[in-house]
Amino acid sequence: MQLGPYTLPNALFVAPMAGVTDRPFRKLCKRLGAGYAVSEMVTSRPDLQDSLKTSRRADHSGEPGPIAVQIAGTDAAMMADAARYNIQRGAQIIDINMGCPAKKVCNKWAGSALMQDEALAIEIVEAVVAAAAPHGVPVTLKMRTGWCADVRNAPTLALAAEAAGVQMLTVHGRTREQGYKGFAEHDTVAHIKSRVKIPVVANGDISSPQQARDVLQRTGADAIMIGRAAQGRPWIFREIAHFLATGEALPPPDLMEVKTWLLDHLEDHYSLYGEFTGVRSARKHLGWYAHALPLPSGAAAVFRHRINTLTTAQAQLACVRDSFDAWAAFGPDHNMTREDNWKLAA
Ligand SMILES: Cc1cc2nc3c(=O)[nH]c(=O)nc-3n(C[C@H](O)[C@H](O)[C@H](O)COP(=O)(O)O)c2cc1C
Repeated sequence: MQLGPYTLPNALFVAPMAGVTDRPFRKLCKRLGAGYAVSEMVTSRPDLQDSLKTSRRADHSGEPGPIAVQIAGTDAAMMADAARYNIQRGAQIIDINMGCPAKKVCNKWAGSALMQDEALAIEIVEAVVAAAAPHGVPVTLKMRTGWCADVRNAPTLALAAEAAGVQMLTVHGRTREQGYKGFAEHDTVAHIKSRVKIPVVANGDISSPQQARDVLQRTGADAIMIGRAAQGRPWIFREIAHFLATGEALPPPDLMEVKTWLLDHLEDHYSLYGEFTGVRSARKHLGWYAHALPLPSGAAAVFRHRINTLTTAQAQLACVRDSFDAWAAFGPDHNMTREDNWKLAA
């Protein structure tokens, strides 16, 4: 798939998720088969650009390109400045966020709230495209199907965005009103795909290789984007790639293989956040890994409980090593006894 001057290795994208799709997670997803990753959204407010949170979000060191940075905001001139600022710091693609339903974003009329004001949405798109074009940087747009069930205006916005110079559209098959409730529908994606010439990416509730194939077939989309199903399961990308290429399911990864990926993930995580914040913010990832793996019964709960009590990187790494070794020795059919749990927690 082609995006401006960039040829993407495949059509499997990891979704931007604030607090999740940071540099270490993006790198791991790319290592395990994702062809493209968009950063968590960064604010367009200049007063926050040098904050620790924003500078961590804008950190792409060691990440395979193209580097895609998502910006969020409500003011066209500020969004254009944000595009230029991020391009100067290495962004090779700028993605505009019109998909996030979070209150913090919507109260300021950014994210998916922008879909309610089509004129402002297009003013922002035009300003960002004008700012990025002199640098040869493609601009992409991520949106929902509309504001609410009665106003599914994604197709109208898609056509206007294409005319304004946007080079790829991602559509999450829910309205803003739905938040994350109900199920994503992909008919709107199919409709948009039939009307625009630029690549269209289908997003929402894709959590298995079979679903990935079905959504690609049903919508004719050029790519799919996966968010929550990749949490704690970044190998989903290689599973989908294998299934799309061969029609066969890849066996689940070996626990020792996951242990290696997870230890690498943690080291990279600490290197971005430092030990104090890193140990704490890694806990959610560890919980997701435990949830995604076929562990002995009762093991995930004990693991999560233990992880939440540890406060140093050394202890967290040791807990991961010991737990994986024990789970591999027990096997997934083992019922953890109180004694097993006690030994693991010791
Ligand atoms: C924790 C979390 C954070 C998110 N942050 C962003 C964000 O920063 N920008 C954005 O465009 N979408 C964001 N999203 C939406 C996802 O990119 C994606 O559109 C949505 O989760 C649907 O895909 P999925 O069903 O594969 O998870 C976020 C979603 C989650 C769960």
